[in-house]
Amino acid sequence: MSVVDLSALKGGLKELPPLSLYAHFPWCVRKCPYCDFNSHEPKNGFDEMAYVEAMLRDLECSLPDVWGRPLTSIFMGGGTPSLFSPQAMDAFLAGVRARMKLHPDAEITMEANPGTFEIERFRGYREAGINRLSIGIQSFNPRHLQSLGRIHDGEEARRAVDIALTHFDNVNLDLMYALPGQTLDEALSDLETALSCGITHLSAYHLTIEPNTLFAAQTPRNLPDDEASADMQEAIEARLAAAGFEHYETSAFARPGRRSRHNLNYWQFGDYVGIGAGAHGKISSHQGATREMRYKQPAAYLKAVRDGEPRQSRQAIAREDLPFEFMMNLLRLTGGFETRLFQERTGLPLSAIQQPLAEAEAQGLIERDLRAIAPTLKGQRFLNDLLTLFLPSARD
Ligand SMILES: C[S@@+](CC[C@H](N)C(=O)[O-])C[C@H]1O[C@@H](n2cnc3c(N)ncnc32)[C@H](O)[C@@H]1O
Ligand code: SF4
Repeated sequence: MSVVDLSALKGGLKELPPLSLYAHFPWCVRKCPYCDFNSHEPKNGFDEMAYVEAMLRDLECSLPDVWGRPLTSIFMGGGTPSLFSPQAMDAFLAGVRARMKLHPDAEITMEANPGTFEIERFRGYREAGINRLSIGIQSFNPRHLQSLGRIHDGEEARRAVDIALTHFDNVNLDLMYALPGQTLDEALSDLETALSCGITHLSAYHLTIEPNTLFAAQTPRNLPDDEASADMQEAIEARLAAAGFEHYETSAFARPGRRSRHNLNYWQFGDYVGIGAGAHGKISSHQGATREMRYKQPAAYLKAVRDGEPRQSRQAIAREDLPFEFMMNLLRLTGGFETRLFQERTGLPLSAIQQPLAEAEAQGLIERDLRAIAPTLKGQRFLNDLLTLFLPSARD
């Protein structure tokens, strides 16, 4: 039994962590049957400029909590942000710059869906200051795209990547594997196509059947079994390593120097303001950290902004939850983390987690020296078991 000992805790953070901005764009042309993100089919269209203005007013509500801190990255996620015009994105980014300091080489990413690609738009996004694209390809195989209910076919997917690479030199593709009826060769063929495009980053997600999705109600019968999925995962990891991609997080692979700085800030337990419908944020002060959540339904969110309080909830992270919350992020990183980061980001001394660390090491789930702590291959495969050791309830 492991013990998280917090008795040694004195006070909060000496230095505040880096700060990034997440902006949520909640609409999609069509809801995908596997997706549990906060995404909605607009029944009667939507007013993009009204939404941009709402997000900027929303941002203003958080300014007193992050006063003077520069943004190191911005991520425009969804939903489908590429449904918004370049003019709307330009207005949004100009509004952010007018309200907050932006680090000179800030990473500014936008998610895009291949069904929404037109060459002119992407020049406009680049000119608005977006310098990284993340494209939800999922697969290049028409049969699998259809079974996933995607609005694009394989040809459009390829064309989208070509257009993206005309204007952007930093491009991520999302692929999913373990798709209904998918073979190992088909998964690898998707990967070959992705690699042949000249991308800098790849995210490979195992298809998960999420509760409250169409796939949960009508689960496809021909999903690959655990053994077949594990073979796909191993083959994908091996192929990406051979192509020079670093596997730095559970599902993330990057060419050297091209790791997602925005996502790394989450995984290193950094701070982020989350604006837009349903967005989550985490903001530290010298006293501790607070989690925030915006109203989820776009209409409720827009009304809440008009009423002057877009945050549906704000809650301090309890001191006893900090070790688990920290580890839940940091142990996703295959290379682990520098030991000093634990105290820097939680304000707790490392001695507070000596016992669960010792237990994790004894079980072969982590390896450590004076400088760093990293999950072993076993720890990466059994991440949930590893994290459980850091739960406050592990004390009982
Ligand atoms: C927030 S989504 C947005 C991307 C964009 N809307 C699109 O789908 O083209 C980010 C990524 O999460 C992945 N994803 C979504 N639902 C998933 C699920 N149930 N299982 C595995 N990956 C999933 C997809 O690869 C998707 O591209
Ligand atoms: S396009 Fe992306 S965010 Fe929208 S429903 Fe599909 S997976 Fe979800």
